[in-house]
Amino acid sequence: MISVENGVFKLDTPNTTYLFHIMETGHPVHLYYGPRLAETGDLAAYPTGTNLRMPTFVNYSDAAPRLYMTLPLLETSSWGKGDLRQGAFAGELGPSGEIVFDFTFSDWRIESADTTHTSHLPAARKDHAQTLVLTLSDKPTGVVMELRYTVYEDSDMMVRSCAVINNSREPLTIRSLASLQLDIPETDFEAITFNGGWARERTVTRAPLTVGTFGIASNAGSSSAEHNPLFLLSGRQGCYLFNLLWSGDHRETIEVTPYDTIRVLTGLNPEGFSRLLNPGERFDAPEALMAYTAGDENEASHISHDFISRYITPLAWKNRERPVLLNSWEGMGLDLSEENIIRQAASAKELGVELFVIDDGWFRPGLHAIGSLGDWEPVKNKFPDGMKRTVDAIHDMGMLAGIWVEPECISIDSDLYRAHPEYLVRSPGRDPSPGRDQYLLDYTRDEVVDLIYEKLEKLIAENGFDYVKWDMNRYFSDDHAPNVRGGEFRFRWMLGVYRLLDRFTRRFPDLLLEGCSSGGSRFDPGMLCYANQIWGSDNTDATDRVPIFSGTSCGYPQCCFGAHVSRIPNEITGRVYDYETAFNVNAFGAFGYELDVTKLNETERRMFSDQIAFYKENRALLQFGKFTRVEDGDEVIWTVENEDASKLIAFYLEKRAGVFRHRIHRLVVPSCRSDALYRVTARRQWITAPGMCERRGGPHLSESFERTVPGALLRRNGMALMPVFLGTEYKEDTAFLGDYGSRLFLIEKIA
Ligand code: DGJ
Repeated sequence: MISVENGVFKLDTPNTTYLFHIMETGHPVHLYYGPRLAETGDLAAYPTGTNLRMPTFVNYSDAAPRLYMTLPLLETSSWGKGDLRQGAFAGELGPSGEIVFDFTFSDWRIESADTTHTSHLPAARKDHAQTLVLTLSDKPTGVVMELRYTVYEDSDMMVRSCAVINNSREPLTIRSLASLQLDIPETDFEAITFNGGWARERTVTRAPLTVGTFGIASNAGSSSAEHNPLFLLSGRQGCYLFNLLWSGDHRETIEVTPYDTIRVLTGLNPEGFSRLLNPGERFDAPEALMAYTAGDENEASHISHDFISRYITPLAWKNRERPVLLNSWEGMGLDLSEENIIRQAASAKELGVELFVIDDGWFRPGLHAIGSLGDWEPVKNKFPDGMKRTVDAIHDMGMLAGIWVEPECISIDSDLYRAHPEYLVRSPGRDPSPGRDQYLLDYTRDEVVDLIYEKLEKLIAENGFDYVKWDMNRYFSDDHAPNVRGGEFRFRWMLGVYRLLDRFTRRFPDLLLEGCSSGGSRFDPGMLCYANQIWGSDNTDATDRVPIFSGTSCGYPQCCFGAHVSRIPNEITGRVYDYETAFNVNAFGAFGYELDVTKLNETERRMFSDQIAFYKENRALLQFGKFTRVEDGDEVIWTVENEDASKLIAFYLEKRAGVFRHRIHRLVVPSCRSDALYRVTARRQWITAPGMCERRGGPHLSESFERTVPGALLRRNGMALMPVFLGTEYKEDTAFLGDYGSRLFLIEKIA
């Protein structure tokens, strides 16, 4: 996978090659990243930018008068030797704050085993992998930079990271350190980023690149709903995908130079960050992910889905089907008691639900989400004898039991605050800023990590919970902790949380952990190292979930995406759609319900039971199948397929009834095999629209639809759908869709 010859480093994944060499000056220069190369040929043939002549540029040195550091494609970069682009590293050394650094080759080695070098940072597993460690140093000062490249036998994803070791005699302040730098000699790309806010997380933004710097960043203290660290560069020559294993602030920049090159940097956000390294100390930046495919965005996301499932998320739930859950939040609010929970759980069990999740409220005496954060004791007025009896009752019904916690925050009105006001993060002399009436707990302190660990350990072990929803409902402010330098606060804080997550998940390796942050405000590969799934969004309106899921699926596998059917009309948007579309959308995720199931009418109960039965029957495919976005306009088509494309499920949705009436409705499924014959059947779902019910005397099952279809037709022209109701005839084979009408199609190979 990794070979090194005459200063040329060749890193091969199954389908790609990454190539760089060490120039005479000692700088690692990037040669190539693209489809796999059998032979490398002449190095002089690679467009590295080392042969352009410009009068305004600074010559690197007398010995290398023709080298202008702003032109070459470099593996790393710093300030002060003529590179005018944004650098991967910036620092200040010694009392005078020297800022010139120039890292050149010292050494290299290959690590083969899973020698995860930084247990305090989330890390991808490194089995079936080799890691190239390239050591560079700034010769006059002795400051060392380590570039790490991990290449896998069976994945086109590469893991990159970077460390700085202060081998000088002076203290070094790191101002910025990107985890990954990639310089490439082409610029014709669209940058695809995933942005939004609360209740509209990770929706797709496409920006054609032009000369200048395009960037996104999070200053929230969290990877944030505003800008996810995932991004893609998509162009005629293929697609690059990047991500970062970090759940705090991050910055991604794509700099298009006037010399037809691009520099990509991703890593910690330098704003609000600095790190003091005393002589002998080392600092590791988080790991970054990088993939290239000659294919399109779907191909890039397949690489990412596969990698996250095999090398990032905890192994105990790898390929293990996620239970259908009922979460108490939207249905019961904070009105929780043993009796209420058991009533809901019993009703949910009849529908086929497998996991009951007790959300916020079990530790707060009142009916508002205020107070008691940090205490993590069941409150007496709701659970006079604790929660064990409730959990046992759920278990006795044959269901799993889950609990909600928010371990990173503290309320002023809590026993924890009364005992330890110093644990609340505040900046000296200022009133701390509340977020949702709560404050940050000081995770830079080991005693806070230990204390919260003990409380959580007791809660889970004593009551026997099988699942935990780990929420975090505010962004950062008032960055300060005693004995921690201001610029180090957020980094050290996040490490404290990771330490807690690490210890907690080691203690309960079988527990299913679901991350959450006011919905999906912290959805990143760092969290996914500990949590197998993350709640997708507080926006449970199925029609709004479509763009949220389409965006999320560009980088994250569907089994990681918590997806629930909630009450209609929707609580946030007030929108009315039907429960079958709500199911069809959310079936592409870690599925559940979030509403008062005791209030369902008879038709809804039959409908939900049918949905759950269908989901369970097809769950392996829905959760772990290869996911593809086919259409994403007024019609939406998603598909999942098994390994040999002999079984697929397609989702078809029409956003606005009537818009397409004069078009041929068709289902295009590019993942079908051209040479195969398929049987396509539509899931029969309940039609409850009043006008249709009048025509048929009440709620009824949708049209029966079965076709035998050649794979080549499904791939190319698409299969004609059933006739859609046009206002006059409503026959046995007519489909009623309406606004946001949808169907699921089962596609099975028969020959
Ligand atoms: C925010 C989450 O996203 C919701 O699902 C719910 O758990 C609330 N917090 C509870 O406070």
